Amino acid sequence: MTESARDLARKLLAGNGIGNGGTTAGNGVKETKPVAASRPARPRRGPGRQFTDHPDVAAAVMKQSAIAAVYEQSGMPNPLFLPRTGSNDTVIRALDTDLVNFSAYNYLGLSSHPGVVRAAKEALDQYGASASASRIVSGEIPLYGRLEQRLAGIYDVGDAMVTTSGYLTNAGVIGFLLREGDVAFCDSLIHGSVVSGTQWAGCRRINFRHNDPDSLRSVLKMSRSGFDRALVVVEGHYSMDGTVGRVAELAAIAREFDCAVMVDEAHSFGVFGPTGHGIREHFGMAGADVDIWMGTLSKALGSVGGFIAADSDLIGAMKSSAPGVAMLTGAPAPSGIAAALAGLDVLEAEPERVTRLWDNARLFDAALRERELNLGDSQGTPILPVIVPGELRAGFVSATLLQRGVYAGAISAPAVPVGKERLRFFITSEHTEQQLLSTADLLAEAVTMSDQLPAAMAD
Ligand SMILES: Cc1ncc(COP(=O)(O)O)c(C=O)c1O
Repeated sequence: MTESARDLARKLLAGNGIGNGGTTAGNGVKETKPVAASRPARPRRGPGRQFTDHPDVAAAVMKQSAIAAVYEQSGMPNPLFLPRTGSNDTVIRALDTDLVNFSAYNYLGLSSHPGVVRAAKEALDQYGASASASRIVSGEIPLYGRLEQRLAGIYDVGDAMVTTSGYLTNAGVIGFLLREGDVAFCDSLIHGSVVSGTQWAGCRRINFRHNDPDSLRSVLKMSRSGFDRALVVVEGHYSMDGTVGRVAELAAIAREFDCAVMVDEAHSFGVFGPTGHGIREHFGMAGADVDIWMGTLSKALGSVGGFIAADSDLIGAMKSSAPGVAMLTGAPAPSGIAAALAGLDVLEAEPERVTRLWDNARLFDAALRERELNLGDSQGTPILPVIVPGELRAGFVSATLLQRGVYAGAISAPAVPVGKERLRFFITSEHTEQQLLSTADLLAEAVTMSDQLPAAMAD
């Protein structure tokens, strides 16, 4: 911050109304209110020092520097924020070498597919790099509607809406639809974006046991009547555990208890179903069995952004009024939408990519089981977690693989429970048999090496 900006900030802080919380207006914008005269003045920290002692900031800074120090002292490469050049494919260029890559959810290899890249370039030439405004006020370009019609057709529902981010889609849609007095019944492994949505909404969130219809039923029996609107939220394919959402059973139970249903297809669209049309196709469900089908463009479709497909009135309302997904936010970049449309074209033209993806997943799963690695509750899907308890141990295995030419991310708390740290492997249709089998050998060796680490590292 420059000196004059500091002065200005000091003056503002000396005035009233700054830093006193405030309320949210109907348009989603925070309003500040003057401090009540009777309330004792709170000690204020000066500009630039507002957050240095914030517990989460301090903890994150300490954690990052401890991790960096461990890698620096051990001489091992730090797998976090690994500087990389080129696209995020099965082989990436990093550390001046080629690495076999398992850290990208580029399930069908579409993000660098020539047709996808060409479509994005053409849209850049035609529409520029940015939408430069929200759709409501800036005029529609046909790309958005074309993608939305394709998605609505795939889900066999009235309409769809594309957004700039999958995370914001969950947060904004739930934030818009639920409020105080309402409830979201969530699978206990539900993604953080759904949790954010419930916080945004100010509704209650009640979890049921992961993928457990009996648990959902008993939670609904016990609690449903205490709330006004209720939404059951589940995923098609769980991103940390590689489990398959029991979507059809859970949705049917939700309906018995007069609940709406939302399914997050972030990791199932493009992955499940014979033609990659997601968990609905996998289970043979009707579009109307679920109220809100949510997905991202940033995973199998090789682009970036989110979408929902639902009843046309619901979509119309959100397109015009939902903050963060349509209102008060810029439209998705035209190049990203063109890329996703081209990604859908490739999916339609080459369903064999989905077959290859599953052949690879089964091959890798069998190879890891043969080597007696702990795959948790995973079900042989293209998300394969290898449980390596202890944050340092998991990091050690990831760094050892990196030294030997394989990149797979280590995941620790809070993303997974303490003691269930893991390496997560995303399999794609483009991995070769040789890459998969040699990685299985290297991984088994690295996990064995990690067993010999001092016990303190298993914490
Ligand atoms: C289950 C799930 N939902 C939503 C999201 C957010 O999607 P995006 O990365 O497109 O913002 C993710 C991201 O990883 C996810 O795993």
